[in-house]
Amino acid sequence: MLKFILNDKEIVTHLHPGTTLLDFIRYNQRLMGTKIGCREGDCGACTVLIGERVNLRMEYKSVTSCLMALGNVSGKHVVTIEGINAKALTPVQEAFATEGATQCGFCTPGFIVSLTGYCLNESKPTDADAIDSMNGNICRCTGYKSIQKAALSISKLLQARNTEALSFAIEQQIVPSWFKNIPARLMNLAETDTPLENIGTKKLGGGTDLYVQQHDEMTRQNLRFFSDKKEWKFIEEKSGTCSFGASVTVTDIAQSEIFQRHFPQLKEYIQLVSSTPIRNMATIAGNFVNASPIGDFSIFFLALDAQLTLSNGASKRELPLRSFYKGYKQLNKTEEEWIEKISFPLPSKQHHFNFEKVSKRTHLDIASVNSAFCIKMDKDQVEEASLSAGGVGPVPLYLRASGEFLKGKTISVQLIKELLQQVQEEISPISDARGSAGYKRLLLQQLIKAHFIKLFPALPQKEILFLK
Ligand SMILES: Cc1cc2nc3c(=O)[nH]c(=O)nc-3n(C[C@H](O)[C@H](O)[C@H](O)COP(=O)(O)OP(=O)(O)OC[C@H]3O[C@@H](n4cnc5c(N)ncnc54)[C@H](O)[C@@H]3O)c2cc1C
Ligand code: FES
Ligand code: FES
Repeated sequence: MLKFILNDKEIVTHLHPGTTLLDFIRYNQRLMGTKIGCREGDCGACTVLIGERVNLRMEYKSVTSCLMALGNVSGKHVVTIEGINAKALTPVQEAFATEGATQCGFCTPGFIVSLTGYCLNESKPTDADAIDSMNGNICRCTGYKSIQKAALSISKLLQARNTEALSFAIEQQIVPSWFKNIPARLMNLAETDTPLENIGTKKLGGGTDLYVQQHDEMTRQNLRFFSDKKEWKFIEEKSGTCSFGASVTVTDIAQSEIFQRHFPQLKEYIQLVSSTPIRNMATIAGNFVNASPIGDFSIFFLALDAQLTLSNGASKRELPLRSFYKGYKQLNKTEEEWIEKISFPLPSKQHHFNFEKVSKRTHLDIASVNSAFCIKMDKDQVEEASLSAGGVGPVPLYLRASGEFLKGKTISVQLIKELLQQVQEEISPISDARGSAGYKRLLLQQLIKAHFIKLFPALPQKEILFLK
């Protein structure tokens, strides 16, 4: 039995917990404002908000309901466009109308929900972030300028905020006043809800891979829900090592003070990965186990020499991520095992880290080729170097020999030239929809040049750029 609140209505359902939230909203509750576009997390027409109590506050995040399992909203508050609607237009709806930001209207509920979600966000409002909050929404007819203008007028409204985001949103009628009773109502729900994390066999994180790949089978699976396991929802730093649990999402990493401190370019890296609603759902553990050769976080953490803690419930073992991939979608993991924890040594002052990704579209696209580089310098000599690359082999690749090649050497244009040749021997790209094998070889060369240009700005950049 699942319990949650949908808009202002308490829901108790015996439906399979793998049913998508989208199907439940439209076909069980007959709320048709949430639209179906792609059913693959790409278009944002099905965007809803999911609210939960975090540190005595409600935290709302946008998600694509087409990839969200009902089991993953257990004990939470689900908000659809109908839950935002009032007798008059809300300020967000008014801004869309004023700016002519809607034409056929199919995408509009998704955009409104995303921007309303942004209004419930406690972070300091900025124009860029207001626009970015809709990065998971696609409009095929209006054109984005007017949509951006609507976001800017909402950002302006939010500048006047000097109280908690939810109180301000209620005061400004961005959301209805009954939102203030939701925390207390959720507390009652949580006490009686059945935990879904310790039963079932098929492991489910955020579902952003599984619901795309196995959509029809999900309601026939005996699911084990990992995305909300409280013991796994932590990010901690101890003696130079960062550890985080398997329920940690991309958004959790993006918002983590530890990650922000150690990776000053984190925001830029994260913006290259999927979209806000997908990042709100997607776990790092899911990215590793999905084993896509271009998984961004597999590449990121391979360069950082992450260690996995695997468990089968009875016993645990540690395994380097670098030993996890055995062949295309083949893992060094039994069917029964799951990832519980991920740890990695945090880069010190001597370390320099960079992540690069090229895809057909800059945003909301998977990589053609991606790469991460972590290099430890002792004055002008390389003490250690780790290089990883995706899209150039059957698995996310750790380029062991290339890292070894750099050890003990002094960085120079000549060394980079030799490295580019060395790297070519370690990769085996194939031609596919994301580019020919030759193009991917060239791309990786360019990404490696980008690592050096960004990390060592004193090097002659033009010379590096034109290296062959
Ligand atoms: C629109 C869209 C855009 C995307 N863009 C990107 C992108 O830019 N870059 C990128 O890298 N990926 C992208 N993805 C893919 C996806 O979001 C990521 O791979 C994500 O990290 C998967 O995590 P999840 O929690 O959703 O995994 P799920 O779908 O829940 O699970 C994926 C796999 O991991 C297993 N699993 C989950 N948790 C565990 C665990 N703790 N232990 C063992 N097995 C586990 C599941 O059984 C399944 O086999 C995109 C997906 C979509 C839909
Ligand atoms: S229907 Fe397109 S993102 Fe869900
Ligand atoms: S208004 Fe038609 S798709 Fe956006």
